Amino acid sequence: MKPLELAVVIPTFNESGNIGELVRRLDAALKGREWEAVFVDDASPDGTAQMLREIAVKDRRIRVIERIDRRGLSSACIEGMMATGAPLIAVMDADLQHDPAVLIRLENALKADPELDLAIASRFVEGGGTGDWESERVAKSETASRIAQLVLKAELTDPLSGFFMIRAKRFRELAPRLSGIGFKILLDLLTTARRPLRFAEVPLQFHRREVGESKLDHVVAMEFLVALYDRMFGRIIPTRFAMFALIGVIGVAVHLSLLWLFFGLLGAEFVVGQITATMGAMTFNFFLNNALTYRDRRLHGTRALLRGWLSFCAVCSIGAVANIGIAAFLFEERYAYATASALAGVLVAAVWNYALSSRFTWGR
Ligand code: GDD
Ligand code: MN
Repeated sequence: MKPLELAVVIPTFNESGNIGELVRRLDAALKGREWEAVFVDDASPDGTAQMLREIAVKDRRIRVIERIDRRGLSSACIEGMMATGAPLIAVMDADLQHDPAVLIRLENALKADPELDLAIASRFVEGGGTGDWESERVAKSETASRIAQLVLKAELTDPLSGFFMIRAKRFRELAPRLSGIGFKILLDLLTTARRPLRFAEVPLQFHRREVGESKLDHVVAMEFLVALYDRMFGRIIPTRFAMFALIGVIGVAVHLSLLWLFFGLLGAEFVVGQITATMGAMTFNFFLNNALTYRDRRLHGTRALLRGWLSFCAVCSIGAVANIGIAAFLFEERYAYATASALAGVLVAAVWNYALSSRFTWGR
């Protein structure tokens, strides 16, 4: 057997309508090369993984990793990249928006210059393009690119490209420090490298998606910002905690609004209003944290949600008692300023709520 030259890592979610054609195009584009494709599927409901396994039985160049109860484009790419022995690793989309013929140009760029770590398929160099995207999508993409460039301080035209090829050796040096959050694996690689990665860009004509739909929704856009936060400040204040705390602050606003509604507007007794507001805010925080902070460990189903909600309320109630206790102690026994005492109570409660809910509500 000839040694493996190239691995193509392809994340999939509900791409059953595209993979057959993609494998045909890979086969045509990579004629004469020793390659394999590592598909990483997050248990797509449309049966993409099963379909891939059926292809894999007949074609040993096709490999499948199926992940259960996980979602995430970046982490899927990383796992696929970890699973191959090939010296060159490409990442591309499964939906035929990325033309497999470009793989050869990426490979040629790396072969031509041994100093290069990475070759990127760019929509924004001479000869590239975004195809027939609506202007709104082009604008969004440009804004995101500009934000990314600020963080990167690198002169690359398409930092959000999902189509590139990297030397496996270089990837494995970076792998232990990648964040894996969100959907921008290229950005993750570029920002993780201590010595800037040396890259070349080749033009990419981005095709329109014919079958299936894009998974990049608002939550994914938010994850992009989260990934950037993680890179810039994640070491100082861990990203998950920052998110939890931010949602906590929003929870306070929910609390005050509910209190105003019940006590102020509907004329309920203060205690009744306060209890309702507390329950409402805790519930709000529980669901928001479940959707965002713990997106990767999200609780599903009535039973899991009910159990999660109860444990979250229990944790937060103890947190509230601790909050009041500490603030009162500082204020009365240590003669600290009222505001400082209150803030210290809030901080302790936030850390407590975070630590215990991550262990008991969203723990595994
Ligand atoms: N395993 C896995 N898990 N795969 C996923 C997930 C996920 O949670 N979400 C999306 N994918 C797969 C899709 O099946 C597809 O093969 C690829 O990742 C890209 O997803 P799309 O939903 O098609 O994204 P897009 O076309 O809107 O975004 C493209 O443009 C961006 C640049 O603006 C992609 O090429 C991105 O990688 C690129 O950054
Ligand atoms: Mn796509």
